[in-house]
Amino acid sequence: MSRTIIVSNRLPTKVQRSAEGLTFQPSEGGLATGLGSIYKADGNVWVGWPGLFVEDPNEQAQVAERLQADSMAPVFLTEAEIRDYYEGFSNSTLWPTFHYFTQFATYEDAHWQAYVAANEKFCQAVLALAGPDDTIWVHDYQLLLLPEMLRRARPEATIGFFLHIPFPSYELIRVLPWGAALLNGMLGADLIGFHTFGYMRHFLSAVSHMVGYSNQNGIVETPTRSVLVDAFPMGIDYQRYAEAAVSAEAEAHQRTYRAAMRGVRVVLSIDRLDYTKGIAQRLRAFEQLLVRHPEWSGQVSLLMVVVPSRDQVAQYQELKVEIDELVGRINAQHSTITWNPIHYFYRSFPFEELAGLYRLADVALVTPMRDGMNLVAKEFVACKTNQRGVLILSERAGAARELSDALLINPTDLNQLVEAMHEALHMPEDEQIAHMASMQALVRQYDVFAWTNLFMERLAYSKIKQQTMS
Ligand code: UDP
Ligand code: G6P
Repeated sequence: MSRTIIVSNRLPTKVQRSAEGLTFQPSEGGLATGLGSIYKADGNVWVGWPGLFVEDPNEQAQVAERLQADSMAPVFLTEAEIRDYYEGFSNSTLWPTFHYFTQFATYEDAHWQAYVAANEKFCQAVLALAGPDDTIWVHDYQLLLLPEMLRRARPEATIGFFLHIPFPSYELIRVLPWGAALLNGMLGADLIGFHTFGYMRHFLSAVSHMVGYSNQNGIVETPTRSVLVDAFPMGIDYQRYAEAAVSAEAEAHQRTYRAAMRGVRVVLSIDRLDYTKGIAQRLRAFEQLLVRHPEWSGQVSLLMVVVPSRDQVAQYQELKVEIDELVGRINAQHSTITWNPIHYFYRSFPFEELAGLYRLADVALVTPMRDGMNLVAKEFVACKTNQRGVLILSERAGAARELSDALLINPTDLNQLVEAMHEALHMPEDEQIAHMASMQALVRQYDVFAWTNLFMERLAYSKIKQQTMS
């Protein structure tokens, strides 16, 4: 039987070291949470890094055994690989460049070398596992070279690639000294998927300018093969969120929070700590809401979950300091004995508690500067089973292409953000219900299962097309 081998840098389970030894927790981030619902079907295997430096061979064996029982195969990264491939090239070169933060990008040849070597390491791990009939599905920017490496080793293999972050304008890709090599790496796949048509067009334009391959109807002709390129907006496991939201556990969490925040409207924000998410801008906008519309003072609180992320990278450390200071200053200036403007949590929350938070919130504030998709927006929609609640969404999140019934804002425009919050807090219930119902219909229909099926169908189609042309 043919299986799907999923490959990504991060596994959906992260291993952590504690006083009691190794612990295993669900990973955060849209790739891990999104695919978490589909990967275990049909004997599939997920190959990736368990998120911790594990050196001791006994510990490695313990981790591998535990993950194997859950259909995962670990790739152990060394400290140097974590520094140069993960924190270096992946998160200090590609991540800022692809999110239009070139001022944060570094260009280190040593990081590039480490990136090539790490992609090779993942390639060996996949080859050791994958049979000739297995489909290999590679995910995200940490592994852009892997499709081509796999193709060289297995010319006939069925290989899909999906990018979970934006693909920027060709003008940004051409800044990278390794731009053409990265594009060629991706072109090793049979099908390349993006969240939106905009990202797909940028990719095709970069390929034609920098590699010289033309395209027609989303098919790139390389000298040896044709590669299909398409847009597949990723969905969530709608049912799982909708059910969790009405579970007794989520209700209990909601009650606890409600008791602590009695009588106030709740604006919710949930992100990994990342400069792409617009967290500092959001805090400034919330402060302005209190200044410009003082009637909200004592009436509304911002509940802000910031999940620790990539904390060895300088820009992330600096952002943490900025957020801490902003929250401290705003709370010190505006709070009263009975009311706290901002409830700030710097940690991750278990799934049922997140569902309780989504359920509790009157408004979700999802305002990234750039975001490939943003699943938090879709999760909020799925959890609003009574259809009350307003989503404020950045027009620069991939999700905005589908969720046009949200209050769409430009996250750089602070005035717009302030007025959108004001409007959301005043929105009549019938209007909330109308918007939420139409967004729910869409998020329910294009869920993560539909997304996977569509991708797999297109991948099979691309293979058939290649065979009929050869
Ligand atoms: N998330 C989580 N624990 C938390 C907070 C968030 O697992 O405490 C999840 C959230 O439910 C969502 C993911 O992290 O599924 C974030 O995905 P998104 O696409 O919004 O952004 P990304 O982190 O991938 O940039
Ligand atoms: C985004 C990326 C994922 C990544 C996640 C968490 O969703 O697209 O590839 O796994 O962020 O980041 P981390 O660096 O912790 O894996």
